[in-house]
Amino acid sequence: MKNQNVLDSIGPDIDSNMSIQLNLPFESALQFQKAIRPIHYLGSKLRFVDFIRSTIDAVDSTGGYVCDLFAGSGTVSKYLSNTRPVISVDIQEYTRVICSALLNPPCKPYQFDNFIDLCAKSEHSKKLRWAIDPLINYESMCIRRALEGDLFSLCELIENGSIIGFERGFGKQCSPELFKILKKVSSHLAELNLLEGPEALIVRYYGGLYFSYEQALQLDVLLELISRVPKEIRDTLLAAILSTASEIVNTVGKQFAQPIRPRKSDGTPKKYIGKRVQRDRSIDVFSTFQRWLKCYVTQPRTEYIHKVYKMDYLNALDLIDDDVKVVYADPPYTRDHYSRFYHVLETICLRDNPKISTTSVNGKTNVSRGIYRQDRHQSPFCIKSKASSAFEGLFQKVRGLESSLVLSYSPFDKDKKARPRLITIDKLENIAKKYYNKVSVVSIGNSSHSKLNRSDKNFDISYSAEVLMICEPK
Ligand SMILES: C[S@@+](CC[C@H](N)C(=O)[O-])C[C@H]1O[C@@H](n2cnc3c(N)ncnc32)[C@H](O)[C@@H]1O
Repeated sequence: MKNQNVLDSIGPDIDSNMSIQLNLPFESALQFQKAIRPIHYLGSKLRFVDFIRSTIDAVDSTGGYVCDLFAGSGTVSKYLSNTRPVISVDIQEYTRVICSALLNPPCKPYQFDNFIDLCAKSEHSKKLRWAIDPLINYESMCIRRALEGDLFSLCELIENGSIIGFERGFGKQCSPELFKILKKVSSHLAELNLLEGPEALIVRYYGGLYFSYEQALQLDVLLELISRVPKEIRDTLLAAILSTASEIVNTVGKQFAQPIRPRKSDGTPKKYIGKRVQRDRSIDVFSTFQRWLKCYVTQPRTEYIHKVYKMDYLNALDLIDDDVKVVYADPPYTRDHYSRFYHVLETICLRDNPKISTTSVNGKTNVSRGIYRQDRHQSPFCIKSKASSAFEGLFQKVRGLESSLVLSYSPFDKDKKARPRLITIDKLENIAKKYYNKVSVVSIGNSSHSKLNRSDKNFDISYSAEVLMICEPK
């Protein structure tokens, strides 16, 4: 097949003598059957994909459509897609991007070999570097100082170094040294007209907090070029950015709920903060991206037609008109909204300059520490007064499709200091039985009790293990 050159549609920034090359081995048999973790994800079912698949196969032996209704990181969708057609649904755009890249890789062999070179040498990169160079240099100096034992400036940078906070008028809380640099960078960005559009979004919102300014710059530069490639390969490239951001982010647990806390609860700086920050912030975005891009472009296409929707689960269940045999559902069970942990990934995909929520502490207002989007999704599954009816809707609509439902649940384990569940498994089972004749609960990964039928009163479910509730219409 002739390789498609993506340059034609990339636009004016690019030297058209350069070609983008990276051959796509479309058949990579090794990749089949291997579970993939595209992003670090809370509650990822990576370890359980085999069990989930065999449970689904036991419920439906026809190999027909399975709908992964809360697809999250896409790990389960991808694994199931090797052996049956999949419909992936999630309310978040970053999930749609990852699932689309994993399930429906481009059909044509595009080449991307010097894509990174193009990004690094682009006009956009040069402009942005000029604009934020003072902050890049200042951050290096703060890290150096911290490694030598002077921790103040690095702590301050992590706490107050957000350009968006400065733009919103909260810069007065900084030291004169940081204030001066933020002012200079903001005026550079204004001069280049980069305060309104998406071109400097990652630098302005997350530079210095979640990523180093240099890393944020590289992410912006990649995103700018990606916005100009043909639509059919955009998700592949964007997914590689999401995986990169998840790998390099300088936080505890690699999620985006808040930047790393540089101080102890008594306000004194943490001794090892310099080393910790240096470790994550010196990771090169371009080479990490290159590695992820290779992973995505070598994803094999399967023989099935997979569908991916960014949609509320109830709307999706109304819209689906395929003959779905099984719905696999892994909704959230605690008060923690997933959108709080992954809002940065959502903004990376949307590039929409979102409004940021503010917080007031001791009478002082500032942008939220996590730089949260004001419009971040609030799931009914995470709201105590709405969780029961959210589940009621789930059981009712899936039953209406005449599909079986396989529901993931991880019971609350006090000893492990888990977050309390908003709904108990007994309550869930009662709702399930209103709609389904046959309801059973199996424990995952606990072989001695691997198949437990609760109606036997013979159950001895390990409440620290994950369970699947299997609901069958017949
Ligand atoms: C527990 S995670 C799914 C994890 C996934 N099984 C995995 O292995 O990565 C729950 C997902 O539900 C999604 N979600 C929450 N409320 C939703 C809604 N109303 N409609 C669709 N998806 C929703 C969240 O965005 C999140 O990705």
